[in-house]
Amino acid sequence: MPMPPSPSMSPREQTFGWMTRPYELLARCRQEVGDVFTIDFRGHGQYVLFSDPEHIHQILTGDPAVFHAANGLLEPFLGAHSLLLLEEERHKRERRLMMPHFSRRQIHGWGDQIEEVADRMIDGWRVGEEMPMRETAQSVALGLIDRLVFGLDGEANHDRHDALHRCFDEILSHPHFNIALIGQFGERLAGSPAWQQLQESLAEMDRLVREEIAERRATGRRGDDIMSLLMDAEYEDGESLSDDELRDELVTLLATGHETTATSLAWAVHWVWSHPPVLERLRAELATLGPDASPSQIAELDYLQSVVLETLRINPVVPIIARELQEPVQIAGYELPAGVTVAPVIYLLHRREDLYDEPGQFRPSRFLERDYKHNEFMPFGGGVRRCLGMHLALYELQILLARIATRVELRLCDEEEVRPVRRMVTIAPSGGVRFEVERVGA
Ligand code: HEM
Repeated sequence: MPMPPSPSMSPREQTFGWMTRPYELLARCRQEVGDVFTIDFRGHGQYVLFSDPEHIHQILTGDPAVFHAANGLLEPFLGAHSLLLLEEERHKRERRLMMPHFSRRQIHGWGDQIEEVADRMIDGWRVGEEMPMRETAQSVALGLIDRLVFGLDGEANHDRHDALHRCFDEILSHPHFNIALIGQFGERLAGSPAWQQLQESLAEMDRLVREEIAERRATGRRGDDIMSLLMDAEYEDGESLSDDELRDELVTLLATGHETTATSLAWAVHWVWSHPPVLERLRAELATLGPDASPSQIAELDYLQSVVLETLRINPVVPIIARELQEPVQIAGYELPAGVTVAPVIYLLHRREDLYDEPGQFRPSRFLERDYKHNEFMPFGGGVRRCLGMHLALYELQILLARIATRVELRLCDEEEVRPVRRMVTIAPSGGVRFEVERVGA
């Protein structure tokens, strides 16, 4: 039985396109071949990509024993016990343990901390200063997730956390830390000074997190942070997390919990500040609340929510999700063999004209006009592996955007067109969305 068709470009071109400008590659393939196509990522095997909501529904609701996440490439960074790497029963058990700490209700309890972090970021901005929003947001989002995960109260070892931030920066901005590259070139790079430096940063990160775990175990120190909740949590059989499991989940939360959100905030600023009517309507809505509005009240605002959703639609920072077939499955009339990776393409789904009128236009009000189903709008993936941090990310984006729109006058200053380019695991705006602060209010 034949596989779905492939685009005419060579596997080399496909891999290069994927590593540099994935949106362009995906759009080109859809245009040339249609909704279902096969891509040969050199070193990663065959991927069959889907952007029809019915096919995506089948994949997302499929048996987790058949549709594995296959995130093995991330093991050297996140560890074998990371939620992202676990499958089937162990994955289900771990999610049950962690999910309650990321529920909407739980997240709203952190509103004041998120607002405080947003205000501290803005207080640090000087009029006339020019900055890239992505980098600025990245260090703020890392600080925030670090604080939510570890607590960072007076008793915390702040030097250790500063060192941990440096490690994450070094790892995530390292030229060789591109997951598209690790599998293919890792062996060839081994031994080079840059590769060596990456290994050292990974080892240092591991040491710092383990030191924190050992200290908490020894002192019994607890707070209202996620680490405390996880240390005291028990699986249904009464067992609790081992040091290795705890290490892997803490690293996973720090890694997954900041770059995606920061990159999405940069896209939001890019779109809102380049569409003055959107900014005006957003500010008018925020003004209805008055100066003492709580973070929870802010997060209830309809238009603000739509602005965030529209940003995640038009620029899904994670453009595809993937599942590796453990046995043959029939999708879209093709009999796909075990070992093939099937991948719903979030980016192409979000650009479908039969779902989104003028999909290339930034128009937040579309989310006020209709509700989209889980297989029509899915920036956070879906099914049993839907993003654990979805409520946190949405809440963070709403509050950060609201505080910037309320307190700051800024001007975008990218001279060249802002293009979607790969930055490690996310698709980021080229140039990072540079802006100049014109006025900072209270
Ligand atoms: C705008 C921000 C974010 C976006 C767009 C995003 C997107 C995603 C996507 C597409 C997946 C894969 C889902 C799948 O395979 O079906 C995922 C998984 C995950 N995300 Fe997020 N994410 C964001 C923020 C966060 C935050 C703040 C956290 C931290 C708490 C987080 C933690 C995770 C975890 C732990 C998983 C793995 C879930 C599993 O395999 O069960 N994410 N995310």
